[in-house]
Amino acid sequence: MLSISTLGQVVPPRPSSLPARVLAACALLLGVLLFGAAPASAHAVLTRVSPEPDAVLEESPKEISLSFTETISIPAQGIRLFDPSGSEISGVTAVARGNTMTAQVPPLTADGSYTVAWKAVSADGHAVSGAYLFHLRVATLTQPVVGAESGVALWPSLLRILGTVMSIGALALYLGRPQLFGWRRRQRLALWGVASIGALLCLLSSVAAAGPVRSTGWSISFSTSTGRLTALALVLTLCGLVLALCTQGLARSRASDSDEPTTLSRNADRALAVLAVLSVATIALEGHAVAINPVALSVTLTLGHVMAALCWGAGLVWLEARTRSASATELQAVVIKRSPWAIGAVVMLGITGALLILNRVPLNELLSSWYGRLGILKLVLLFVAVGLALSNRYRLTPKLLAPKLLTGPAPDQPAPDQAASDQPAADQPAPVQPAAVSQLRRSVRIEMLVLALALLLGATLAQVAPPQAG
Ligand code: HEM
Repeated sequence: MLSISTLGQVVPPRPSSLPARVLAACALLLGVLLFGAAPASAHAVLTRVSPEPDAVLEESPKEISLSFTETISIPAQGIRLFDPSGSEISGVTAVARGNTMTAQVPPLTADGSYTVAWKAVSADGHAVSGAYLFHLRVATLTQPVVGAESGVALWPSLLRILGTVMSIGALALYLGRPQLFGWRRRQRLALWGVASIGALLCLLSSVAAAGPVRSTGWSISFSTSTGRLTALALVLTLCGLVLALCTQGLARSRASDSDEPTTLSRNADRALAVLAVLSVATIALEGHAVAINPVALSVTLTLGHVMAALCWGAGLVWLEARTRSASATELQAVVIKRSPWAIGAVVMLGITGALLILNRVPLNELLSSWYGRLGILKLVLLFVAVGLALSNRYRLTPKLLAPKLLTGPAPDQPAPDQAASDQPAADQPAPVQPAAVSQLRRSVRIEMLVLALALLLGATLAQVAPPQAG
């Protein structure tokens, strides 16, 4: 993080500062939670099946029953039964109760192998499916007559990734910018619009993953935790959109929307900020966070991780805007003031990210699983960002602190000729040079790009099933 490096030289370490205390408390809490962690499960996993796979029965079974590690919802044809010739037996209707799915079976008469094909939707909104055989008196088949349907279709996952990136990205931009005086309300409105469309895409993806969108998909989706969270996220972002619209109307009723904000519009802005944070938290909890055991650990780590990413991202957006609008001296002061928070966010992000990976991926599968590989890639991105910060620390900081007077052009304009401005100003406070400000801005932009990539990878990770731990 740029501000870390920029400030490392001027801010003495403050181990007892608020960010440090909050971080220590979080680390303690996470440690306690992790200590008691049970093995993680990716999606709902079958724990008990009746009749058992490959069982040879002397009598027709009365029912088929499948139990899972977590509460499941079922699509219209949760259980399908095929006779030894491969024809589907009609009248088999599955019902779900808690984590068990059952179906009554009509009397079976033909000897031979029967195929049971099942499908369920787990709490993270992903479908899981499978097929197996049981035999009536004699085994006539070695393979089920139908294969297991593929768990998750690709396009709902892509839709979810797109929606997540749109929503979280737009809300990070929103949280970073409104503090800036003069930032137009139209832009805020547009960001809430993008966030709402992103939340809608997540909802549609969750419905499509659960079943046919035009029939059972909605009810199955809403019976999962993830489906309900996608709906809540859409409601929250739409509330934000409506409130942003109202505040824009308020601004329009005044002469200009860059007028000094009134108490009412300040309160509306505060409410919008709270809505933005809640929306991001809700979107972050969709998927694995509410489906992987122990859920308390998963939820805590995910929330800590995403909130840290949000602080960092919004902070960078804010800083980038300041490099264009604030005077260099102001810029230096705000960077100094906020750097402990930035350091806290980076440390939190790294720790929670690493703990999420370690809790979900056995060490020996770190490189062989996609979940592990993507996690490592994110770690690399984090190192890249921290590397940028270190480079700024040793390249930019000396320039910022150089005893040269800032009376030249605005930060966006080219730096003054170094030789011409080489007059020391001993009685002035340490000023900042425009060239250093431009470099700061460029560096912040690169960091923002790295963070955007990490956001994309995070949203992709949420669509990849972690390998079974333990
Ligand atoms: C570099 C800055 C990073 C940013 C901006 C970032 C951002 C995010 C975001 C926004 C999510 C939530 C995605 C969603 O809910 O769809 C997420 C999830 C996650 N991130 Fe990061 N992250 C970063 C670094 C890391 C690192 C260093 C690691 C691990 C070494 C990591 C591991 C994870 C994991 C495991 C998840 C959970 C995915 C799931 O739901 O299964 N992240 N990240």
